[in-house]
Amino acid sequence: MGGDTTLRYSSFLLLLISCLFFIFADSTAAATKGHNSSYSPPDNYLIDCGSPQQAKLDDGRTFKSDHDSSSYLDTNEDIQTSVESIPFNISSSHSSNASPSPSALPLYLSARIFHEESKYSFFVSQPGRHWVRLYFYPLPHPYINLTSVVFTVQTDKFVLLQDFNVRDNTTVVFKEYLINVTDRFSIIFKPKKGSYAFVNAIEVVSAPDSLISDSAATVSPSKTFTGLSTYALEVSYRLNIGGQNITPKNDTLSRTWVPDGPFNAFPQGSEPAFAEPRSINYPKGGATPDIAPNLVYSTAVKMKESQVMEPNFNLTWKMNVDASFSYLIRLHFCDIVSKSFNDLIFNVYINGLMAVSCLDLSSLTNALFTAYYKDFVIDASDITNGSIMIQVGPASNVKSGSSNAILNGLEIIKINNAAGSLDGFFAVDGLYKGSAFGSTKLKIVAGIGLGMGVTAMLFLAIVLFRWQKRPQDWQKRNSFSSWLLPLHGSSHTTYSSSKSSSRRSSFFGSRKSKSGYSSSFSNQGLGRFFKFSELQIATQNFDEKAVIGAGGFGKVYVAMLEDGTKVAIKRGNHGSEQGINEFQTEIQMLSKLRHRHLVSLIGFCDEQSEMILVYEYMANGPLRDHIYGSNQTPLSWKQRLEICIGAARGLHYLHTGAAHGIIHRDVKTTNILLDENLVAKVSDFGLSKDAPLEQGHVSTAVKGSFGYLDPEYFRRQQLTEKSDVYSFGVVLFEVLCARPVINPKLPREQVSLAEWAMQCHRKGKLEKIIDPYIADTISPESLKKYVEAAEKCLAEYGVDRPGMGDVLWNLEFALQLQEAYTQLSPPEDKSIDFIVIEKQSENNSRENIPSVSVSDDSEVTVGSTLFPPLGNVQGR
Ligand SMILES: *[C@@H]1O[C@H](CO)[C@@H](O)[C@H](O)[C@H]1NC(C)=O
Ligand SMILES: *[C@@H]1O[C@H](CO)[C@@H](O)[C@H](O)[C@H]1NC(C)=O
Ligand SMILES: *[C@@H]1O[C@H](CO)[C@@H](O)[C@H](O)[C@H]1NC(C)=O
Ligand SMILES: *[C@@H]1O[C@H](CO)[C@@H](O)[C@H](O)[C@H]1NC(C)=O
Ligand SMILES: *[C@@H]1O[C@H](CO)[C@@H](O)[C@H](O)[C@H]1NC(C)=O
Ligand SMILES: *[C@@H]1O[C@H](CO)[C@@H](O)[C@H](O)[C@H]1NC(C)=O
Ligand SMILES: *[C@@H]1O[C@H](CO)[C@@H](O)[C@H](O)[C@H]1NC(C)=O
Ligand SMILES: *[C@@H]1O[C@H](CO)[C@@H](O)[C@H](O)[C@H]1NC(C)=O
Repeated sequence: MGGDTTLRYSSFLLLLISCLFFIFADSTAAATKGHNSSYSPPDNYLIDCGSPQQAKLDDGRTFKSDHDSSSYLDTNEDIQTSVESIPFNISSSHSSNASPSPSALPLYLSARIFHEESKYSFFVSQPGRHWVRLYFYPLPHPYINLTSVVFTVQTDKFVLLQDFNVRDNTTVVFKEYLINVTDRFSIIFKPKKGSYAFVNAIEVVSAPDSLISDSAATVSPSKTFTGLSTYALEVSYRLNIGGQNITPKNDTLSRTWVPDGPFNAFPQGSEPAFAEPRSINYPKGGATPDIAPNLVYSTAVKMKESQVMEPNFNLTWKMNVDASFSYLIRLHFCDIVSKSFNDLIFNVYINGLMAVSCLDLSSLTNALFTAYYKDFVIDASDITNGSIMIQVGPASNVKSGSSNAILNGLEIIKINNAAGSLDGFFAVDGLYKGSAFGSTKLKIVAGIGLGMGVTAMLFLAIVLFRWQKRPQDWQKRNSFSSWLLPLHGSSHTTYSSSKSSSRRSSFFGSRKSKSGYSSSFSNQGLGRFFKFSELQIATQNFDEKAVIGAGGFGKVYVAMLEDGTKVAIKRGNHGSEQGINEFQTEIQMLSKLRHRHLVSLIGFCDEQSEMILVYEYMANGPLRDHIYGSNQTPLSWKQRLEICIGAARGLHYLHTGAAHGIIHRDVKTTNILLDENLVAKVSDFGLSKDAPLEQGHVSTAVKGSFGYLDPEYFRRQQLTEKSDVYSFGVVLFEVLCARPVINPKLPREQVSLAEWAMQCHRKGKLEKIIDPYIADTISPESLKKYVEAAEKCLAEYGVDRPGMGDVLWNLEFALQLQEAYTQLSPPEDKSIDFIVIEKQSENNSRENIPSVSVSDDSEVTVGSTLFPPLGNVQGR
């Protein structure tokens, strides 16, 4: 076996395995759902976007935070997002749009905002129709007016929303789709140029295959339409006629059914009918509770006073629709009004056209109180006046029985058009296909069918190809040079009006002496400009009590801004020219770097020769304080893994994501800070290769990081990103063993953690030095993977060390092994599915998957340090 090929093959396997784990995690979630469902979806992704914690709804479903499951965000595609969670109290005043269930309100409390095209990827375990449900509410945001943002939402093949906008901040918007997907599935958010996109929650959940069949009746001419399975569908209306709201809790497929009141065009002639829900029967081979729950079939609207006089009208429902689309119409019937067979016979009309003549439910189902449904497809050309009209009325030519008619439930479902869109005429590639509408429908069907088949066949090939290509083009695809987030810089008035603008222009004068300063500045998104007085108030005139850290550059204060946000303020010592350089470089660097796992710069102040940087506040302080040497509750192994993964992501981004590759140079547990949700963010990454060499500072940095220092760097004085990898390896052991990296009090061979840990590992005695608090909870497989990664990081020569991307893979794998281990522990959780997957992964982890190491010999040499160790923000 050629080493190279094996390597690539195994990384490919690793990719598949990790996906499988995700599916497993989610299927268990489905099994514990609140209601008694006969159908348990194989894929069940429920995501509360941008929320710091999971959301448990009244209906029993738990939406995971996308923080917990960042793997949904396909980092392989190099699309990064910024997160802004805005905890916000939607009072229950949003009742005008009844479609989303009130139990879903918690999902609207947070949103994820996308600054550029971004994508959620899902691994689909079982191809077939999936519910895709999207939740939107334009939460107030201090800088971005979400009611005015415009964006497009697509899947890989279909456009779901084109130039979508939620203008009204008094109602929530809920969109529900049914899409037939194969292996992999993505939801892509594309902000319109200069705008943003957002989403509050996403569901991707398997639907039973039997839910939508491939064929339906057409209305005119009365024929059969086939090929429905290749189309994407959007639910426009779902009515429980004559009944109440049905929430996801009372529906086997978590659907919401709303009362028909507003759509009943002739309420004077209609009268509700009820039956006991338990009395509803489902016929063999016909409707099932998944088609509609018995709460739908047990209520209906019938004709008023049909006993007393011969009614001469139709019951009519009218729903507004987009007339340029064709629709699937599903009518639910259940004869709950008749006393005997063949008593109720009526006609059904769709938009004035006869859909069913002389419908006799009792003869169709051979029973009363039995569910029955029928699907119709209505072509766009039959939709007049922009609405769909459903009518039921007595069949005048049949005189037997009572003159009555009923309808129990109604679903109106939009079918994608020739452009592959459910909203407008633009295809996923952005091309306008409006003129092709209608006539080429059949051709498109074939095209999509072929496309799906091809995707299925090429999936493996593509993944393999990607991974083979990875080492070469990873760097290229990670070019973020244009990725300057205008996060906070969009429209701050102080930019142009500030008195200090001349000072600031000299500040950046070397770069922008000629160009219009304020505009280029704000365009670059260098963050918000703070007035000195503003920061004086925020820190109570730089009160010593507010100091949370100090370093060579100055002090770090915790402060509260006017709007209540807590921030960390780093105030530079006055007067040093060198300080000004660092200040300038840090602003330029930081503003280029935005990542969920890097502490982000909110703004700065350079008034009155101040040099003040304003960062996001990291409530939980440095990682080290949570590992040893303080009174904090020790972290669990899973938490530690998640923190290491976060930090590794941050470093990976520094190495590969930013325009030129940035070496942190001071990776250590005090520079990994934790926010209020224990999300790890790397701080103090102000070292860039542009920075001028400052001898004094190199030595400061060396001193501060003793114990983490790459021996090769020491020898060759040449820095590569592999030096960070080395330091990160030390961090990994520090997290595992919970002791200082240098402890002079210990016997000589134990002083340096890196050496001691490697020595113990070689002797197979690593268990002895693991933090006793977690030692018993670690899965042996997870530990093995983790130590393997840490050990590789500490390789003597940089070329032998893996890149951060590979370290990340190994850590994620270790986390998945740990999760599988903890899920396995209670024996009653062992379902058949689980054992199968578990076995597979065990085999693979033991034999087939050596850890991946991609040799990356692009050496980036960096001249100097920018910041001495400072901003080691202490916990509260
Ligand atoms: C769930 O449904 C199954 C059969 O469909 C039934 O045996 C079981 O008792 C139900 N459980 C509950 C809690 O209703
Ligand atoms: C939300 O607002 C309502 C009324 O405006 C208030 O009663 C409730 O306490 C608020 N909830 C939170 C979490 O702030
Ligand atoms: C947000 O934008 C909308 C539409 O452009 C506008 O009507 C509204 O006043 C704006 N709201 C704020 C707070 O600026
Ligand atoms: C809705 O937007 C208006 C301005 O556009 C604002 O005054 C109002 O407070 C917003 N309401 C909510 C609930 O955010
Ligand atoms: C999904 O599409 C594939 C290929 O077009 C088809 O074979 C399959 O039956 C479809 N599944 C459903 C549930 O419609
Ligand atoms: C919904 O289901 C719950 C039990 O799961 C039940 O108590 C409640 O009555 C149901 N709602 C309706 C409208 O039937
Ligand atoms: C019911 O509606 C159909 C189609 O709109 C119409 O042809 C028929 O005459 C109506 N029946 C009555 C009794 O009005
Ligand atoms: C369409 O609307 C016009 C005017 O509102 C009305 O005269 C006509 O009958 C409507 N056609 C249908 C099929 O509803």
